[in-house]
Amino acid sequence: MSRTALVTGGTRGIGAAISIGLKNAGYKVAANYAGNDEAAQKFKAETGIPVYKWSVADYDACAEGIKKVEADLGPVDILVNNAGITRDGMFHKMTREQWNEVIGTNLNGVFNMTHPVWSGMRERKFGRVITISSINGQKGQMGQANYSAAKAGDIGFSKALAQEGARAGITVNVICPGYIATDMVMAVPEKVRESIIAQIPVGRLGEADEIARCVAFLASDDAGFITGSTISANGGQYLA
Ligand code: CAA
Repeated sequence: MSRTALVTGGTRGIGAAISIGLKNAGYKVAANYAGNDEAAQKFKAETGIPVYKWSVADYDACAEGIKKVEADLGPVDILVNNAGITRDGMFHKMTREQWNEVIGTNLNGVFNMTHPVWSGMRERKFGRVITISSINGQKGQMGQANYSAAKAGDIGFSKALAQEGARAGITVNVICPGYIATDMVMAVPEKVRESIIAQIPVGRLGEADEIARCVAFLASDDAGFITGSTISANGGQYLA
C-alpha cells in the first residue's frame, strides 16, 4: 500500500512541485494551503491532488486538518513542512507584526504540523519529516531578520528531532533552497533580484522541480540512513 504524504503550502511554487513530484513517485498526496482558493482549485483540477485549507500558524487548525487528511488518505507517513511567507523589511523599519507573522508561519508552523503527526509515526515505526528552510536561514539576509531567524530555527528543530526519531524509524531532514524562480522571489525588487542572481555561481535562479527531486529522495527508502542533515540546493551561492 502506498504511503501518504502531506505537503504544506503544497498548491503553489515549490510546494506544488513537491506535491506533484511525490504523486509521480507513487505516494498518496494531500496538499495544504492557507489562503489562495483560486490557485488551490486550479491546482486540484490540473493534478487530481486533494487540497485542504488551514493556516499552519494555528495549532488547533493543524490538528483538525491532519485528522481530516488521515480520515481521507490514511496516516501521514511523510510530512513536508514547506509553507512559508516573507514580510521583508530592514530591521529598523520592521514591525512586531512582520516579526510575529513570519515566526508564526515559518517556525511555529513547523511545530504545529509536526507535533500532531509525531506520535503516530513513532507508533508505526516509520516517518519522514522534511522541512524546507532556506539559504537565508544558513547565511542570514539583510531585510530578513524575521525570516532568517525562523529558517535557522527550523534547522535547529530538525537536528534535535532527528535524534529523538532515529530509534523509531523516523528521519528528520532539511532542504535549504537558494533563490528559486517562484512568486516569492519574483516579488523581490528587480534591481535587488539582479544583484542576487549575479551572486549565484551557476548563473541562474533554481527551478522548483530541483527542490522537489531532493524531497522525493529524502522521502524514499533509499534515504533511510540520512537524518539530521541539511541539503543545500542553491547553485553554489552559499557553501554551508
Ligand atoms: N542583496 C543585496 N542588496 C540588497 C538586498 C539583497 N538581498 N536587499 C536590499 N539590498 C540593498 C538595496 O539594493 C539597497 O542598496 P542601495 O541603497 O545601494 O540601493 C539597500 O539594500 C536598501 O534597500 P532598499 O532601497 O530596497 O530599502 P527598502 O527599505 O525600500 O526595502 C527591502 C528593503 C524590503 C529589504 C528590499 O530591499 C527587499 O525586498 N530586499 C530583498 C530581500 C531579500 O533578499 N528577500 C528574499 C526574498 S525571497 C526568499 O526569501 C526565498 C528564499 O528563501 C531565498
